[in-house]
Amino acid sequence: MKWPDHGGQPEQLKQLFNIDDDEMKTIDLSANLNPLGPPAWLKEKLSDLYETISRYPDPTYSSSKASLAAFEGIPEDNLLLTNGGAEAIFLAAKYFEHGQALIVHPTFLEYERACNHYHVKTEDVYYDQETGFQLPLRLIEEKLNHTDVLFLCRPNNPSGTVVKEDDIRSLLEAGKQTETFIVVDEAFVDFLPSTYPSLSTLLPAYPNLIVLRSLTKMYTIPGLRVGYMMADKDIIASLQAEQLPWSINALAHELVPSLVEDTDFVRHTTSWLNEQWQNISQTLASLDFYVSPSEVNFYLLQDQRQPTRTEELFQFLLQHGIVTRHTHNFKGLNGKFLRVAIKAQPENEHLLAILRKWRNES
Ligand SMILES: Cc1ncc(COP(=O)(O)O)c(C=O)c1O
Repeated sequence: MKWPDHGGQPEQLKQLFNIDDDEMKTIDLSANLNPLGPPAWLKEKLSDLYETISRYPDPTYSSSKASLAAFEGIPEDNLLLTNGGAEAIFLAAKYFEHGQALIVHPTFLEYERACNHYHVKTEDVYYDQETGFQLPLRLIEEKLNHTDVLFLCRPNNPSGTVVKEDDIRSLLEAGKQTETFIVVDEAFVDFLPSTYPSLSTLLPAYPNLIVLRSLTKMYTIPGLRVGYMMADKDIIASLQAEQLPWSINALAHELVPSLVEDTDFVRHTTSWLNEQWQNISQTLASLDFYVSPSEVNFYLLQDQRQPTRTEELFQFLLQHGIVTRHTHNFKGLNGKFLRVAIKAQPENEHLLAILRKWRNES
């Protein structure tokens, strides 16, 4: 079976499973953007910015860089604006061209793709699924000697779990000795409760830390393409020199300061999400479904009573109009779980109702 590479492709999935009901409405729980959508003011602001598209953006992106640096509390020299988190990942891999990387799976597929693109050899290690996706700390430490860069996704896509800050500190310490860098992708960090600060606070102490961010997920703006990298100023300068000219478009550049200032939107999202998650996780546990100990807006799901029937569960949900993300192309998961996004309450309730039905019928 040819599974789609990414989430958010309901039509392709209906075809794959021969569901030819064109009238069928689908609820897409396969993409992990903010379920609340973009901030309400964004539409009008975009139309106000219409004139901007007939000018080249400031090639130094000074106003957007300044606002991000102030928000992060770091000097501007330590920050590079990128065309989404994806460009930041590829630039990070470029920095280690022809080197050796370690990737902890299951995780976002683009680290491996970026490494392959820049001839960085990759070695795979795995989160421990039995212990709720704990980092294999000792194993990683043993491998640091021959590793130039460790890629970590925190919070991790697809499990939604968060590596302990202490574990990262101890790897950064060890990495100073072995000359190993750690790239931490924080694309989903804004969804975390404020008890988890961004690792950017560790940058002054650890020149071997590179932090990647994206505004895509929190603000639901995958079409705008805004991300950034934070790192030692020499790394930033050398990667800036590799960037394509005007890599970030004018609309994205103009919007960054307003997005970053909207902290109310982020607070509202996280508290709303927390309420939804309490309800979903309790109900799923009572129905005997496994859910990964996620801290963000998506989680891994498996029928604990019938763990080998994930594909049938996927199909059952699809037949009831619910699209989840298969996990066939996540190393270490191989389709054993479904990744499910948290959405608005009626959609979450619909999912729970269909899972109850599955439980009663299967
Ligand atoms: C962990 C992670 N990092 C980065 C990205 C890429 O984000 P962007 O759309 O900003 O390039 C994604 C997108 O799915 C992601 O899941």
